[in-house]
Amino acid sequence: MSISGSIEYDLVVTNGICVSASDVAAYDVGIKDGKVLVLAPSGSLAEAATRRLIDAEGGYVMPGGIDCHVHLQEPSLFGDGCSADNYETGTRSAIAGGTTTIVAFAPQQKQHGSLLAALEATHRLAAGNCYCDYGFHLLVSNPCSSALADLQRLRADEGVTSLKIYMTYEALQLRDDQILSTLLAARQNHILTMVHAENGDVLRWLTDQLEARNLVAPKYHANSRPPVLESEATNRAIALSSLVADTPILLVHVSDPGAASRIREAQTQGQPVFAETCPQYLFLTRDSLDAPGFEGAKCVCSPPPRTEADQRAIWAGLRNGTFAVLSSDHCPFRFDDDVSGKKTCVSATYPVGRFRYIPNGLPGIETRLPLVFSARKLELTKFVEVTSTNAAKLYGLYPRKGALLPGLSDADLTIWYPQGKEPNLVLTNAMLHHDVDYTPYEGRRVANWPRYTVLRGKVVWDRDRGGIVGQKGDGQFVKRGTSSLANVWGVVEEAGPFDVEAL
Ligand code: URP
Ligand code: ZN
Ligand code: ZN
Repeated sequence: MSISGSIEYDLVVTNGICVSASDVAAYDVGIKDGKVLVLAPSGSLAEAATRRLIDAEGGYVMPGGIDCHVHLQEPSLFGDGCSADNYETGTRSAIAGGTTTIVAFAPQQKQHGSLLAALEATHRLAAGNCYCDYGFHLLVSNPCSSALADLQRLRADEGVTSLKIYMTYEALQLRDDQILSTLLAARQNHILTMVHAENGDVLRWLTDQLEARNLVAPKYHANSRPPVLESEATNRAIALSSLVADTPILLVHVSDPGAASRIREAQTQGQPVFAETCPQYLFLTRDSLDAPGFEGAKCVCSPPPRTEADQRAIWAGLRNGTFAVLSSDHCPFRFDDDVSGKKTCVSATYPVGRFRYIPNGLPGIETRLPLVFSARKLELTKFVEVTSTNAAKLYGLYPRKGALLPGLSDADLTIWYPQGKEPNLVLTNAMLHHDVDYTPYEGRRVANWPRYTVLRGKVVWDRDRGGIVGQKGDGQFVKRGTSSLANVWGVVEEAGPFDVEAL
């Protein structure tokens, strides 16, 4: 309280245009104890008692970005070492790009099985190291009964309410019966299953075919994973989910319009099928894999970037609601790194490298919001919906995250430059805060960039005064509830348990 007895805020943001998933309106934001306390008429808090005042000068003020598909310090599937960013550098990069919450993966150790042990090990990597708030999904590669038995405690005690499975990658690929067992256990425990849908067997066969013809350069990564590989696996995942009494699934990093159409069809039929896409499928094409020398390796991710026509279809899927969320799938490997670099597969025998051994994945946690915001292809409300609000609902963080609801929401904000002060940048890797030696978006123009990032009321990114002004350790683990998007578990409850006799 101030001397007059009125409230003293910790932070006031005045003169901003607040954007939610449903509205765009001028409000001042009053923040106290890490929470949004009030949204007040524009300018009305300009003179309020506050420890800090930010004049947004007419810039957009949004709920902080939420990126629920992030790989940090994960063992490489392509040799020794780990993905490039750890919890410190990855989350530092997140706040510099306007993201205030991430959900990263806790990989199960295939031999040990225990999901709780995987969670504990990942907590050790993250604790005290994060610049933004964070949660975990379990990455399940061995769905034995003892591992699946951990799901109950994960949800009830640990605040982990999602898992990811793979239909590809030799080390991770599940067979259909394993997928069914996982889906059933997830259904019983109200855990959302994220599915990487590519047909791993077909991919292996095509890769062998290409290698037999000595077609091994990075550009052939796209030939080894044509769209049908993705649409077939997507269709199969939807079929398996439907078989287990409509168990909710989320198709991650969708790149193929055929897969998107199948998803939309399932949604239209009322199946609990959600989807995610990523900036690489909006801004890169398969031509990026054909850069001179071995540079194409910098854009090797799975599924691969596709064509410009496909990009247009993916943008349309964001606008029409097929995709609930737009995440980064930040999974960086350095280009030059003796242990786990994208270039390590270049050898005397294969001077052009072999795409089969290029670690898959791209950096993108920091560029996600600026790239998509600058493209101006989504309504502002849709932008907030797919980059923040829906992620919060889908992964059980709403309304604490993903909204600016007085009394309910954490004061996590992304504040953009106003018109006339937009920085209009050319992206270079040197300006980013990840621990990676390249960005696939080098040289691309972006019209705007988050000016401030606020985490639970604390300014952690101030682009004009110091850049990163938060500290590692500011970020806290967030326990998540179950998904609230589309009342997904309510529908499951109403449907009753899976009954094999009813098939
Ligand atoms: O190429 C990709 N997407 N790498 C990240 C791991 C994954 O499958 O999400
Ligand atoms: Zn994946
Ligand atoms: Zn991923």
